[in-house]
Amino acid sequence: MIETRIAAQAKDIEERIYAFLPEIAGNQKIVIDAMHYTFKAGGKRLRPMLMEETFRLFGGEGKVVEPFMAAIEMIHTYSLVHDDLPALDNDDYRRGRKTAHIVYGEDMAILAGDALLNYAFETACKALDAEDADPLRVAKALRVLSSKPGIFGMIGGQVADVAWTGQQINLEQLLFIHKLKTSALIECSMMIGAILAGAADDQVAAVEKIAGNIGIAFQIQDDILDVTSTTEELGKPVGSDEEQGKVTYIALKGLEQAKEDVESYTMEAIETLDGLPYENTFLRELLLSLIHRSK
Ligand code: IPE
Ligand code: IPE
Ligand code: MG
Ligand code: MG
Ligand code: MG
Repeated sequence: MIETRIAAQAKDIEERIYAFLPEIAGNQKIVIDAMHYTFKAGGKRLRPMLMEETFRLFGGEGKVVEPFMAAIEMIHTYSLVHDDLPALDNDDYRRGRKTAHIVYGEDMAILAGDALLNYAFETACKALDAEDADPLRVAKALRVLSSKPGIFGMIGGQVADVAWTGQQINLEQLLFIHKLKTSALIECSMMIGAILAGAADDQVAAVEKIAGNIGIAFQIQDDILDVTSTTEELGKPVGSDEEQGKVTYIALKGLEQAKEDVESYTMEAIETLDGLPYENTFLRELLLSLIHRSK
């Protein structure tokens, strides 16, 4: 079953990426502890998985991708720690645990998020030490790692999400939010996998398109689960969007249409994937499985 394989893969990824975290020691121990706390709390490890599987799709081999896998999960984790802060979504649970600001205080949660973001770059640079490292590919991957999470990517999406909270936004505005706050890190993950494997520029562009559509489908499904799932299943509070006064995809298009659109954005991605002259059946099944994900 695909779910079993995904779970095994996530576990294998965890073992490899945990090794990149800094040791919990020294005068800044408290914040390093907070970094470990959310990073190790569980989570689907989707972004490193997509990165590695895209690397494999283009024939990538060796360890050069691993520091980048850890780095993207650090950036994703930082985005969650900050997203949950009282000033943003004000959520008390994440990945089945109390959020970092509840356990460590707002000050340390902010700093732990900052630290994860910065440490992601320290970690990604370790790719240069890999035996099989191609410095130009690593440099190109670093360029993507520095831009996609930024103001024209994930942070930009979070800005629009927060700024428009409580306002009646339209579909175009909502898709702007979804594309930036969620697609950007998925694009980042898959593009880096392709770049490190030596994919040509037009193929990296195709990967960006695939990931863009997967990201929108993923965020629509996230909005759906916020109304249809349970806190136990998700490991984070349900009903948070409504409570915060956020316009969601369901609010604009209804639940049934939202479900259909998760499928159609995904199928568009699959079509682009199938048009590439390479094959990775696990990656294809992984993307398809996200249509019906329950957490
Ligand atoms: C949550 O991402 C934030 C969104 C972009 C919707 P995930 O659903 O991938 O969270 P984890 O990593 O599994 O905890
Ligand atoms: C957040 O979107 C996406 C991020 C960049 C963290 P949400 O606010 O919907 O994510 P959840 O539902 O809290 O995981
Ligand atoms: Mg949010
Ligand atoms: Mg949130
Ligand atoms: Mg959400």
